[in-house]
Amino acid sequence: MKVSLSLLAIAQTAEAWSASSSRGTFGRPSALSSTVEDAPPASAETYADPSRYLNDHPSNNVPPHIAALVGRGLHTRPDHPIGIVRAKIQEYFATLPHEYVVYDAEDPIVTTTQCFDDLRIPPDHPGRSPSDTYYVNDETLLRTHTSAHQSEHLRSGADCFLCAGDVYRRDEIDSSHYPAFHQLEGVRLFPEEEMAGADGLKGEEWTSSDECATISVDLKNTLEGLMDHLFGETEKKWSEDYFPFTTPSFELEIKYEGEWLEVLGCGVIHEEVLQMADRPDRRGWAFGLGLERLAMILFEIPDIRLFWTDDERFHSQFKEGQITKFKPYSKFPPVYKDIAFWIPEDFVENDFFEMARGVAGDIVERMELIDEFTNPKKGKTSKCYRITYRSMDRSLTNEEIDALQDSLREKVEVDLGVEVR
Ligand code: PHE
Repeated sequence: MKVSLSLLAIAQTAEAWSASSSRGTFGRPSALSSTVEDAPPASAETYADPSRYLNDHPSNNVPPHIAALVGRGLHTRPDHPIGIVRAKIQEYFATLPHEYVVYDAEDPIVTTTQCFDDLRIPPDHPGRSPSDTYYVNDETLLRTHTSAHQSEHLRSGADCFLCAGDVYRRDEIDSSHYPAFHQLEGVRLFPEEEMAGADGLKGEEWTSSDECATISVDLKNTLEGLMDHLFGETEKKWSEDYFPFTTPSFELEIKYEGEWLEVLGCGVIHEEVLQMADRPDRRGWAFGLGLERLAMILFEIPDIRLFWTDDERFHSQFKEGQITKFKPYSKFPPVYKDIAFWIPEDFVENDFFEMARGVAGDIVERMELIDEFTNPKKGKTSKCYRITYRSMDRSLTNEEIDALQDSLREKVEVDLGVEVR
């Protein structure tokens, strides 16, 4: 995937499951839910136990710095920007005629069946590969999208629901990409009688029916209403998209400060997904949106790492129910370091990115490929990456970064089999 220079070309919503991209337990209704009474408290802390994610299984590729993020429950904190946006979305759905049940405490560990098979994601889809996904063992993984919970809620009989949670993807490193982020999923099934005319229709016959069109129109109207609720009246643009679990599928972009931004993926739920979830008699829509992206725009938060900081200068700025512009409390200077190496044939870029965060943590702000060439005689390829180190709360010294860069050079040689130049 291409590293985008523009802050506002923020990724991490829907593209990972679209055709063009390379890339537990049952949830309980939330305590924040406006629709469920006597709900137990959100159980995020249950998940804040790194040993749940770390083990010796040969397929386990969860590093300790990722295991430490799980269970922070940012989406359930009423005064955290992620929690504030989520509440604002819920507020909108509460004004609609159908009652949406809210889930936000599902186990972030899901099975490959939940995350992929139940959603018709084929075995060879790149999103399943360990270079993109954190596996706990062969059968379980850190969910890569909240769609992993669609089927279980449908199976348990829910018709309209929202589901919010932290999701995990191995990815590039820049101001808008972080391996942990948050999504909010929405699903609506239509009353059977409204869909009676399309009974038993499949494939093209179904997608060209009036009933399917009714669902698409309702989906688009609902989401346009949501965008207006969040951003005020905004320019919007729909395009066709592809997800294995919806057809037709769409993406929505909004115009923000002169740029088109993709904010969500959605579509009419594929009939096979409904069949597998034991709801073959029903039809409906689903969408999934990235909460960080919306929060970065609404609060003008310039760097995705800030959502995870413990710094009071960040947290004291936000209050429940209020969307306010973030005032940067500091901008410390960056330190740039380049690293160049000959790569082995099985080089996986995400392994390298992750290793840098493993060595230096969140002060790794950005990693970009700045040079690449192949030596035809040697038949070898060299890559040169520029790493931007910057702390959000203090100045870095050149010496400390040199030390980190040295550790990284050693580690990539040993663990990735590259030859540092
Ligand atoms: N799960 C998709 C993603 O993460 C988004 C999506 C949800 C698309 C529901 C369609 C329907 O990219």
